[in-house]
Amino acid sequence: MARTKIEVKGFEARFYDYLMNLITLGYYPYFINSAIKSLPVKDNFLILDAGAGTGRNASLISKQAEDIKIVCMDIGKEFLKQLAKKSEKNKSLLPVKASLKSFLPFRANSFDMTFMCFVLHGFEHEERLFVLKEFYRILKPGGYFCLIDYNDEINLKKASIITKIGFYLECDLASEFITHNWEKELSKIGFKNFNYKFYFGKKVRLTICQKED
Ligand SMILES: C[S@@+](CC[C@H](N)C(=O)[O-])C[C@H]1O[C@@H](n2cnc3c(N)ncnc32)[C@H](O)[C@@H]1O
Repeated sequence: MARTKIEVKGFEARFYDYLMNLITLGYYPYFINSAIKSLPVKDNFLILDAGAGTGRNASLISKQAEDIKIVCMDIGKEFLKQLAKKSEKNKSLLPVKASLKSFLPFRANSFDMTFMCFVLHGFEHEERLFVLKEFYRILKPGGYFCLIDYNDEINLKKASIITKIGFYLECDLASEFITHNWEKELSKIGFKNFNYKFYFGKKVRLTICQKED
């Protein structure tokens, strides 16, 4: 098993959205539309989509309110090309090439929301905490952090055979990710007001929380 699979390249990166639809037997569009409609997006928001991929999520977010700007940050060559193409038609999207493993090139207290979908689990634990502290720094007081990733309530020892196979096919870090209590980790950084929504039979969770006012 690979340690991480979030650095997607080549064919997989070029056809990422189709592959997601395929491996979820067509459920992905329903899931992502529903999750994004649940985000607390408001008019004029400045949002960071961290590890934005093809820009599919950012495009959906851009339809949720008026005059919003979404900084679509990624390191993948194929993804940055797709983001550049989408941003020509959708002026809400602002592609930026930068790594989440370094200090983010943004001012403190500047974003209304940071959003991250299926990226955090693929980092080493210390890197995850670094990223989350950076999100806290760049968010305005009261700003939202919205995370879509595997649900840490899954106990792989007690899980069904299907879930075990799913995690076996994912990267090692995905199985390690769910051994942490993410509400506790986020609370230690200063996030509060946790709200959740669940998908894929509670295997995937949308977490919405806020920076202290
Ligand atoms: C599994 S994909 C998810 C893409 C997108 N968030 C989605 O849900 O469709 C992981 C994404 O994280 C990006 N990524 C991986 N490591 C990164 C890093 N160090 N900095 C920024 N982006 C990174 C990849 O290029 C890829 O776009």
